Amino acid sequence: MRRCQGLIAVFTFVVVLTVFCLIIWGASRPFKAEVAVKSLTVHNLYIGEGSDFTGVPTKILTVNSTLRMSIYNPATFFGIHVHSTPINLVFSDISVATGELKKYYQPRKSHRMVSVNLVGKKVPLYGAGSTITESQTGVVVVSLKLKFEIVSRGNVVGKLVRTKHHKEITCPLVIDSSGSKPIKFKKNSCTYD
Ligand SMILES: *[C@@H]1O[C@H](CO)[C@@H](O)[C@H](O)[C@H]1NC(C)=O
Repeated sequence: MRRCQGLIAVFTFVVVLTVFCLIIWGASRPFKAEVAVKSLTVHNLYIGEGSDFTGVPTKILTVNSTLRMSIYNPATFFGIHVHSTPINLVFSDISVATGELKKYYQPRKSHRMVSVNLVGKKVPLYGAGSTITESQTGVVVVSLKLKFEIVSRGNVVGKLVRTKHHKEITCPLVIDSSGSKPIKFKKNSCTYD
């Protein structure tokens, strides 16, 4: 009889805990990190003639830029761990510059401005390079795409209840070598899926 009561107690505890976790999980689901790409500053952009590692002559591109974005954690009762997949500047399917947002912790109900250095050094452009032209004043203009994903995880109740969200971000943009004025992004400049 006593053993039976013990079993019932354990069983009841498990059921209550499960229901509790399910409720917390349901309550935490709507809270997704909100990302807004703010600006890209091009520190330098250089196109030259060169060759790839096998010696094939091609145009090569070197770029150094800084991406700024704001991230908001709307969750009222848990913090999140945020990081990104490689952040790429893509020029006709070639990644010409890359960087990464290192993992950090963001408390509940908080905003954070982050910046990431996107760098590419002597990247061969092959056939695609012929579409890039230089103006008479020596200004190079390149249309490309910014592509990456932001991943956020919340340990809502230790490791028992966790949330995980991905946000896929794509922004078309045009950069040039004329100066270091930041390129500003509006709300609808990027797609956030
Ligand atoms: C890129 O530019 C920033 C700011 O000017 C500088 O601090 C950084 O060292 C540069 N990085 C590379 C790889 O050139």
